[in-house]
Amino acid sequence: MKKKTFKDIDVAGKKVFARVDFNVPQDENGKISDDTRIRAALPTINYLVKQNAKVILCSHFGRPKGVFNEKYSLKVVAERLSELLNIKVKMASDVIGPSAKALVSEMKEGEIVLLENVRFHAEEEANDERFAKELASLADVYVNDAFGAAHRAHASTAGIAKYLPAVAGFLMDSEIMALSNATNNAEKPLVVILGGAKVSDKINVISKLMAEANTLLIGGAMANTFLAAKGYDIGFSKYEEDRLDVAKSLMEQAETLNVNLVLPVDVACGSEFSPSAKCKNFASNKIASDYQAMDIGKKTRKIFAKEISKAKTIIWNGPMGVFEFKKFRKGTLSVAKAVAKSGAVSIVGGGDSVAAIQELGFANKVTHLSTGGGATLKFLEGATLPGVAMLEDKDSETKKVKTPDFSAIDKKTTEKPVVKAKATTKKSAVKKETASSAPKASAVSKTAKPASKTVSSKAPKTIASKTTESKTTSKTNKK
Ligand code: 3PG
Repeated sequence: MKKKTFKDIDVAGKKVFARVDFNVPQDENGKISDDTRIRAALPTINYLVKQNAKVILCSHFGRPKGVFNEKYSLKVVAERLSELLNIKVKMASDVIGPSAKALVSEMKEGEIVLLENVRFHAEEEANDERFAKELASLADVYVNDAFGAAHRAHASTAGIAKYLPAVAGFLMDSEIMALSNATNNAEKPLVVILGGAKVSDKINVISKLMAEANTLLIGGAMANTFLAAKGYDIGFSKYEEDRLDVAKSLMEQAETLNVNLVLPVDVACGSEFSPSAKCKNFASNKIASDYQAMDIGKKTRKIFAKEISKAKTIIWNGPMGVFEFKKFRKGTLSVAKAVAKSGAVSIVGGGDSVAAIQELGFANKVTHLSTGGGATLKFLEGATLPGVAMLEDKDSETKKVKTPDFSAIDKKTTEKPVVKAKATTKKSAVKKETASSAPKASAVSKTAKPASKTVSSKAPKTIASKTTESKTTSKTNKK
């Protein structure tokens, strides 16, 4: 169903509540290490400013779990946004409290106010109705441009849409268009490249895309589970012991559907999980017991590049190895190169895959770089995203602006005092927590929170030993 966009309604001079996804990664010092998501929201913000709207921006940042935590303050984002727009962005020190209300009431046309992190209120993730109404009461119109958070049914991504005319922003619209085209009207051959840590994160995507894809290239640690399921010696590589059956059945499904499912034939291995690990190449069925797979190997890079060169459409999500360690990023970079060179319609999602494309300066050679982690995977699975479902259908009559009825609301309980969380002083903790919420492939896996266990293959294996070729192949003849 097509959704209305901000261009379908009159926003001139109106107070527009724009939900954006400014959940950007930070380094150990709290500096923004990748501002892609802020830049991606600029077309919508600029349009609204040009229309003389009063732009109220709202975002989450990390996972502060309903309490104030300085580490997750959006102040750092307000500064970056001001630089990018060359406009002073005013920053409220709360979300629905006195600061936000005062700043909004004083706004002039074309001005921008950024609210503090909406996840400082537990009511946000609970999709609390009163909280959603309070958010709505700040504005006349709701624009959702936070594609990255569209898989969350939260107050600012879904609940609020009940109380205001609700439309998609430019980024939301372009993500939906690009992802729908790649899945529904894909020109064949369609090559799907999946990587990252866990099979469990991607089972539904694999099953869904299997019906359409001609070739499925699997790399990253998730390939280890497939290799283990084939009974290969995979050293002490990480794999999901409780997903061996799933991996087996996905390989069977590929046979049945005539999908060319390609696993690594060789892997770059490390002696330990460290950037300074000793690195050695092994055939993927004979990894030494004191090594673990940390990237696809040289032969596999060539095989993958060849398959990618045959594609007319490509969907890529997830790194081929441990991208954060320089020694083990060759696989991901070579896939990035092959995708950029392919000339195919290409959709790339997931932090590390997008980072690899950016690092090589190939962003303009890719059809669409998705800002979504979990949201992109959910969309590709064919799931309904609450943040999209709540928006108005293209052919529907636009909702009248109606002031939310607060008569029954006990204001005192709605604007709960924000509780200051205990400060975390460890730098490593900062990095870990922000990485989990940043748009990285690792974040993608954390988003889905599957109930699965990743084990080192040093743990006793419970798999049947079966030696077959490292590549599950069948002819590519899907049209
Ligand atoms: C993301 O980083 O994928 C989005 O911003 C959503 O964040 P969340 O997984 O913390 O909801």
